[in-house]
Amino acid sequence: MTGIQLKLNGCVESVDVEPWVSLLDLLRERLAVTGTKKGCDQGACGACTVLADGRRINACLALAVCYDGSEITTIEGVTHPLQEAFIRHDGFQCGYCTPGQICSALGMLAEYRAGMPSVVTEGDETIADGPSEAEIRERMSGNLCRCGAYNGIVAAIRDVVAAEA
Ligand code: FES
Ligand code: FES
Repeated sequence: MTGIQLKLNGCVESVDVEPWVSLLDLLRERLAVTGTKKGCDQGACGACTVLADGRRINACLALAVCYDGSEITTIEGVTHPLQEAFIRHDGFQCGYCTPGQICSALGMLAEYRAGMPSVVTEGDETIADGPSEAEIRERMSGNLCRCGAYNGIVAAIRDVVAAEA
């Protein structure tokens, strides 16, 4: 067991954890923070996306011990206009992927604004205008939605980007 400390959604949590426990299992099984979902448990669906020190990660692929001292934000810690935009634009049906979609979108926008390119980034793209629909679809492609709410998800993100421009 290794003692680690996380700042989870603004609260300090100290836990003893075996070195093989994923951040996802720590959150869900030991800290009872269940907003973050387990889909594939192998890095393929994005349902487990959380923010670690502001960067989006797949919590199922993250060993909890590696995040000692980190600030972890799950959907329970998010208060952002994007959440209302998901409702307005029908960005979900069953909602299972939604916590991951929202955390991922917030991380994605931070990456975009920091100038990180994607495979569809054009050289003349102006960051201040916000990501295009193609950029959003590419950058969110690691978050799958079995309900197929992709059009609503993209519309919600575009709505928030337009409001912040
Ligand atoms: S549960 Fe982590 S990517 Fe699917
Ligand atoms: S809303 Fe059901 S999986 Fe996305």
